[in-house]
Amino acid sequence: MTIAITGATGQLGRLVVQQLKQQAPAADIVALVRNPDNAQDLGVTVRAADYTQPPTLDAALAGVDTLLLISSNEIGQRTAQHTNVIEAARKAGVVRIVYTSLLHADTSPLNLAGEHVATEAALKASGLAYTILRNGWYTENYTGSLGGAVAAGALIGSAGDGRIASATREDFAQAAVAVLTGTGHEGRTYELAGDVAWTLPELAAEVSRQTGRDIPYRNLPQADYAAALKGVGLPDDFAQAIAAWDVDASHGALFHEGRELSQLIGRPTTPLATAVAAALKQ
Ligand SMILES: NC(=O)c1ccc[n+]([C@@H]2O[C@H](COP(=O)([O-])OP(=O)(O)OC[C@H]3O[C@@H](n4cnc5c(N)ncnc54)[C@H](OP(=O)(O)O)[C@@H]3O)[C@@H](O)[C@H]2O)c1
Repeated sequence: MTIAITGATGQLGRLVVQQLKQQAPAADIVALVRNPDNAQDLGVTVRAADYTQPPTLDAALAGVDTLLLISSNEIGQRTAQHTNVIEAARKAGVVRIVYTSLLHADTSPLNLAGEHVATEAALKASGLAYTILRNGWYTENYTGSLGGAVAAGALIGSAGDGRIASATREDFAQAAVAVLTGTGHEGRTYELAGDVAWTLPELAAEVSRQTGRDIPYRNLPQADYAAALKGVGLPDDFAQAIAAWDVDASHGALFHEGRELSQLIGRPTTPLATAVAAALKQ
């Protein structure tokens, strides 16, 4: 069975390829990438595939049985891009598409949800077998900037006491591999999130514990947080988006208490303390 992965040179895609190689022969794995020069270290077959160039998708999907469509990072362009992939997969005779969507996509207040809902609808309308992985927030979205918080002496955000059921990219990658290689996942939609939800004050307390320094959490109004993010070099629209997502998180948008992710991967999701320790080591 040939399994192909889009976005295979992205952060999640690389982890999926690495883990998949432990479950399936490398000869059965195809990495679909925008730039093959960036994929030579993956150790599997590499094919060029650009979501915006349908002819590349037609060629790249030939002979593929199961496709992992990792959602694009080009926000605003994604419905059209994902629809191109689904249509090419249908023409190429792909049997099943596994798609990385967003936690609670159909009810989520996050402004990201619309493109995922539209992609899920296109997938269902395609007539292909599908599995939808509604991934929650990556823990790395927060632990990735801990160095800056430690240097500044405080963690800032706008999520208040909102509980965030995040999991690491490694956890989500393992779930994707389980669903790609396992049986019985056709037509299923999984809400995937970490086992133990946490708040930003709890994250700050964990950072303080591990560094031995007092790193408090300061909750900021949305506009102030966006301005602070812009002040450390983020583009204005990305800073605004992150601050808005944090406010959504304060209302519970990133919370989930099902344990589908740990059930799929057969182990507990990575604890926050472990992710913090890994981030502080970098
Ligand atoms: N759950 C979360 O917290 C969270 C956070 C951020 C993003 N996401 C979503 O999850 C996806 C995977 O996360 P990630 O961390 O792996 O993101 P990432 O590192 O930014 O990877 C995104 C991948 O999409 C590929 N891509 C973008 N436009 C493309 C196009 N036109 N044609 C083909 N490939 C294209 C990129 O290709 P290149 O390698 O060539 O750049 C890259 O491999 C993201 O794209 C985004 O939709 C989720």
